[in-house]
Amino acid sequence: MTERTIVAITGASSGIGAVFARKLAAEHDLLLIARRQERLEALAAELGEAYGTNIEVLPADLAEETALARVAERVRNERRLALLVNNAGFGTKGLFWESDLAMQERMHKLHVMATVRLTHAALEGMVARGFGGIINVASVSAFVRSPGSVSYGATKSWMTAFTEGLYVELKNARSNVVVQALCPGFTYSEFHDTMAVSRSGLAGPKFWMSAEDVVDASLDGLRRRKLFVIPGWRYRLLTMLLTKIPTAARLKMESAAGHVKLARQKQARLTRS
Ligand SMILES: NC(=O)c1ccc[n+]([C@@H]2O[C@H](COP(=O)([O-])OP(=O)(O)OC[C@H]3O[C@@H](n4cnc5c(N)ncnc54)[C@H](OP(=O)(O)O)[C@@H]3O)[C@@H](O)[C@H]2O)c1
Repeated sequence: MTERTIVAITGASSGIGAVFARKLAAEHDLLLIARRQERLEALAAELGEAYGTNIEVLPADLAEETALARVAERVRNERRLALLVNNAGFGTKGLFWESDLAMQERMHKLHVMATVRLTHAALEGMVARGFGGIINVASVSAFVRSPGSVSYGATKSWMTAFTEGLYVELKNARSNVVVQALCPGFTYSEFHDTMAVSRSGLAGPKFWMSAEDVVDASLDGLRRRKLFVIPGWRYRLLTMLLTKIPTAARLKMESAAGHVKLARQKQARLTRS
């Protein structure tokens, strides 16, 4: 009998990460990572019962050095690791210079440093074994500059550039290991609840996708070894336009759109108070 492989998922306690766990549980054992231990344990119990999956829960705040080092060590030592999904993330609102600096730093630690450390931990063994994959959950925001999302857009752009760099290195090394930058647009999850942002104020219903559709697109892209996966034709069209137009024209459009976004947020604040 062949040994079951393992998938490690960060941010598995809700949203896109929990859906990755649900979709992969039938075929793989799982390492579920996030801060909310009770959520991870409930998901592990549900999936263990449904599929007989072996599931290890690793409660950890990946923006904290000690916890990140512990998780990286666990990932590095897992010789059955088939896939790492760097998915944990969050957004903030407000202008950069007015926002809480500690939260901005935490975002960089989580989106950038946790991705660096866990990817390094996973790739060493994967490349040696000639097998495995990494999915970095970035965002359509990687291609857009928007007031109120400066660090978010910058860290997600970093994730796409980092994944592209790995893609080139792995190709050069003739490795079979596959990497993907998953770039979802607006997705139903706890993301906007955590930010205390109204969904309807952000975009019309046609622009909202289910986490199931996002994960299906990602796993389909993984099978086809696609570097960039942008779920939904509207978002593929938008990113194509944003990456094709000259920078000066793009920045003009983004400033105008940002003006509208900030005015809407101000209006929403006034209505609430
Ligand atoms: N929803 C969208 O519209 C959208 C669009 C594009 C990209 N994304 C990206 O998709 C990814 C998943 O987000 P989601 O939409 O599924 O939102 P979500 O439901 O809020 O899930 C975020 C996950 O990240 C975990 N997390 C947050 N901070 C963490 C930390 N310091 N250490 C460890 N885990 C942490 C959360 O778990 P705990 O709270 O239990 O730690 C949770 O499991 C994020 O990277 C996000 O940037 C989302």
